[in-house]
Amino acid sequence: MTSDVIGTEQSAGAHRVPVSYTLNGEAVSCEVEARTLLVHHLREDRRLTGTHVGCDTSQCGACAVHVDGRAVKSCTVLAVQVDGCEVTTIEGVHGDDPKDLHPVQSALQGKHGLQCGFCTPGFVMTALDILDTDELLTDEKVRQGLIGNICRCTGYQNIVDALVELSADRQESGE
Ligand code: FES
Ligand code: FES
Repeated sequence: MTSDVIGTEQSAGAHRVPVSYTLNGEAVSCEVEARTLLVHHLREDRRLTGTHVGCDTSQCGACAVHVDGRAVKSCTVLAVQVDGCEVTTIEGVHGDDPKDLHPVQSALQGKHGLQCGFCTPGFVMTALDILDTDELLTDEKVRQGLIGNICRCTGYQNIVDALVELSADRQESGE
């Protein structure tokens, strides 16, 4: 269990609230300022900077993480709201070796579904959520699922192609 006090947890005189949750499989127990957004807690207190801030206004999806298995925009959630929850960030989706990419990451890489990569962690976390179905994902369904994520570089088609192909591969292999 980690209980270190760093980052936004140190704000002097602020009203701090205890929060305990599971982060990428490890128990976390700490105090956070009540108004701290989950994205800032993850980046500044937990030093998990793979979760990005692209807009802070709930539009871009660069901050997407999973809370209890569903993708959420962590700039729209207070850190105290994940008390008792399981949180997964992009740092929690690959194997023990960071070079051991998750199949979604490999699919995006294989189809050139990223350029600068700023949006990519958010796309991966959202994609994991929309791929969590027995249904075969069509181009249209993938586009609907990714509607809350913005990419300034790719034009989206390669991202969509990667996820449609991955969905078809999974159907074929029965995963
Ligand atoms: Fe959260 Fe853009 S930073 S949606
Ligand atoms: Fe650059 Fe998406 S790859 S914003």
